[in-house]
Amino acid sequence: MSQQQNHALPSYLDPNDLGPWGIYLKQVDRVTPYLGSLARWVETLKRPKRALIVDVPIELDDGRIAHYEGYRVQHNTSRGPGKGGVRYHQDVTLSEVMALSAWMSVKNAAINVPFGGAKGGIRVDPRTLSQPELERMTRRYTSEIGVIIGPSKDIPAPDVNTNAQIMSWMMDTYSMNEGLTSTGVVTGKPVALGGSLGRTEATGRGVFVVACEAARDAGLDVAGSRVAVQGFGNVGGTAARLFYDAGAKIVAAQDHTGTVFKADGLDVPDLIAHVSRAGGVGGFEGGEAIAAEDFWGVETDFLIPAALEGQITSKNADRIRARFVVEGANGPTTPEADDILTDKGITVVPDVLANAGGVTVSYFEWVQDFSSFFWSEEEINQRLERIMREAYASISQVAKQHQVTLRTAAFIVACTRILQARQVRGLYP
Ligand SMILES: NC(=O)c1ccc[n+]([C@@H]2O[C@H](COP(=O)([O-])OP(=O)(O)OC[C@H]3O[C@@H](n4cnc5c(N)ncnc54)[C@H](O)[C@@H]3O)[C@@H](O)[C@H]2O)c1
Repeated sequence: MSQQQNHALPSYLDPNDLGPWGIYLKQVDRVTPYLGSLARWVETLKRPKRALIVDVPIELDDGRIAHYEGYRVQHNTSRGPGKGGVRYHQDVTLSEVMALSAWMSVKNAAINVPFGGAKGGIRVDPRTLSQPELERMTRRYTSEIGVIIGPSKDIPAPDVNTNAQIMSWMMDTYSMNEGLTSTGVVTGKPVALGGSLGRTEATGRGVFVVACEAARDAGLDVAGSRVAVQGFGNVGGTAARLFYDAGAKIVAAQDHTGTVFKADGLDVPDLIAHVSRAGGVGGFEGGEAIAAEDFWGVETDFLIPAALEGQITSKNADRIRARFVVEGANGPTTPEADDILTDKGITVVPDVLANAGGVTVSYFEWVQDFSSFFWSEEEINQRLERIMREAYASISQVAKQHQVTLRTAAFIVACTRILQARQVRGLYP
């Protein structure tokens, strides 16, 4: 019997195609033997607390009515209000949003910020919408999920294809509906609207900080090291620039428009300028265009998947020639690929640790909004770096103690914290 069949699955998922939720369940199975008496509560982690599916109808510019499928899932709120981004993508599914919400619970506990885990999404390709249509869709979606979000309940943030403008519309819609000005209902807002300095770069910065910690542990100098980045958006682009500034060579970059390679390092500022002009790395003349599948075989020290989930699978993991895989994206590596990478001696710094910089500064933003007292960018970056370094240190210590991967160690630390909170709160009623 497969591991998946051992789980009591909700009726709304297809047991033969669990999608990303199936990956998350396997990760929980791996950690259960390390939870001691808390394992009694582990089923809590295998079900989302609350999953809301909403219809999002809008009038298109040409007068037609379009309907989109929207979700908001709160996986766990034992340690604090739900927290997690909103994704606009044509392939969004309930299984994906459930998994992303669960990874947020784990991430927030792994780095010890006082949030539970949540995630949202709309099944739409936002590039097909005009700006007014995008605004109408965002406002209607916010209104529909308004019953379960709020600064003390669940705080959305940007994710793939959502940004500070979309967060502003969400904040405004929620505020209008509530009859007040609620800056703390979303994070990732513009600075003019209670956003935090440093938020835009925070995830990429966190990726860079933990990569440096892992390199230090292994005696590798980041200056002069090689880096390959998949996804050249907010996370991948920022991480690439910070590595470049630290003297590393960005040998390959890939996004949905193409893959570019240069053995002695791409000029990252030039590449960033090209991406903002052309919409992607494709067509960049400062490097050689290579086939998408050849990206995975590039010899590098750091491989940074920073696009979508399910990118490193049993089909390409064997080809990877990196010392470290540092997961900027959420869920980029399947459990089978994880095992292949471990067998090859490649250290995987897992998403729940590596990309936690974004939610860390979101936490700072939420705190600043509550107190209406704002910190300097220097202060934010220092606090961010300290939290990331401490999280890496405690997780790598648990990995050494139990002789497990950093992913399993991060899950041990996180699931222990979540289930301890569950246990002391007790089961209502
Ligand atoms: N932005 C954050 O603060 C944050 C925080 C934590 C995790 N993440 C995760 O990081 C990842 C990237 O997020 P982002 O905010 O940088 O998004 P983004 O929209 O800014 O960038 C996404 C990038 O992925 C690329 N991409 C899309 N499909 C691709 C494909 N099939 N092959 C190769 N590249 C592809 C796009 O071209 C783009 O460069 C996501 O998994 C997201 O969940 C983001």
